[in-house]
Amino acid sequence: MDVAEQEVMAREPATLATDPFSESVLLDPYPFFDELRAAGPVAYLAAWDIYAVGNHAEAEIVASDYERFHSRAGMAMADIRRPDAWRTPSPISEVDPPEHTAIRRAMNRILSPAVLRGWKQAFAEEAEALVARVVSRDEFDGVRDLVEPFVASVFPSVLGVKIPAEAFLLVGQMNFNQMGPNNERTKASVAAAEPWFEQYEAAFQREGAIPGGFAEKIFEAEDAGDLPAGIAAPLVRSFIRGGVDTTIAGLGFTFNQLAQNPDQYAIVHRDPSRSMAAFEEAIRHEAPAQVVFRTVKEDIVLNGVRLKGDRKIGYFMGAANRDAAKFEDPDRYRIERMSAGAHLALGRGVHVCVGQQIARLEADCLVGAFARRVAGFEPAGAPLYRPTNALRTLESLPLRITVRP
Ligand code: HEM
Repeated sequence: MDVAEQEVMAREPATLATDPFSESVLLDPYPFFDELRAAGPVAYLAAWDIYAVGNHAEAEIVASDYERFHSRAGMAMADIRRPDAWRTPSPISEVDPPEHTAIRRAMNRILSPAVLRGWKQAFAEEAEALVARVVSRDEFDGVRDLVEPFVASVFPSVLGVKIPAEAFLLVGQMNFNQMGPNNERTKASVAAAEPWFEQYEAAFQREGAIPGGFAEKIFEAEDAGDLPAGIAAPLVRSFIRGGVDTTIAGLGFTFNQLAQNPDQYAIVHRDPSRSMAAFEEAIRHEAPAQVVFRTVKEDIVLNGVRLKGDRKIGYFMGAANRDAAKFEDPDRYRIERMSAGAHLALGRGVHVCVGQQIARLEADCLVGAFARRVAGFEPAGAPLYRPTNALRTLESLPLRITVRP
């Protein structure tokens, strides 16, 4: 079928009334994800006048085809070009090629594999110390006692910014709520983070960069002309935004699934080098970033469905990662499925997560340290999720050690 024929045959997207940002959906998004995938290639979400894709095939296209789905109106639901939704665009997430290409090249150089290898010992030492403290008790909270303190310690230290852990968490919460609509949840999180704004803003300015961190390298790249003038500070902010809450969520899910699936934990305990595979499958099984937006560039037909130009379209990676057309028995957590590269939790295409190797390094060190010290553990209560507009994450994860080596 040529383009003209496709246009004639095309149908309108199915309309769904469900609000993906309601409390009930955020606490259990999986029925909505089933509804979204069943609606066909693209759905129209009437509650917010946006399109949504939840099947893996279309989610992959929307994430990566920047010719048809651009990022310059923002990766969040609101169109940042409109005066009432304006905010400083992220100089990496909210630009398209060719501007994006040079920025990404500079960042790939700053975060080279050699640089990351240089961080490994410090990450491993911090993980060992934390795990030793935590496992001296029979019961602990996997998120509050282990994952949050670990990420809040190692990530800011390599980035080279000084922000109190509480500010990190409150501002992160706000950022991910702002990815969705300006609902009551977003307003409350803005109010909670407000006392920290000044300190947070100062942290990613040139004067706030701690010598030796990669924030400093970003400022140096700007001075050397490898990055456009004036973008270093907002770029550092993008790293703070992207690197904390997502990793905390992914590590929380890893411990949650390993506690609930002793056969899977046995694999990691026997061979701690499988820690990264355990993490990868955890973020396939429950995606930390649940939705990222693009904007339809102009009127088009996507896989038989007619789309209007200039409207936001969310790719729901949480839904795509449970698509049975892509993953066999998708609701099951199975480390052997080797989901790296197949799932969409880290995005796809030119904007694919630039910090993914940092997240994997954190997983390798923390989950590996735990697996070497603990022979068996189990849930000590139900995990508690923290409803956030565009992020799935745990508030707490009660765990109990059952077998020591
Ligand atoms: C489990 C952990 C992580 C998850 C689930 C995650 C998720 C994602 C996703 C889905 C995207 C693509 C957004 C898009 O399609 O526009 C992305 C991009 C990005 N991530 Fe991550 N991320 C994680 C860890 C990190 C870390 C540790 C950092 C910081 C070093 C980071 C920094 C970024 C940045 C700066 C981008 C923008 C890249 C670009 O537009 O070229 N992320 N991330």
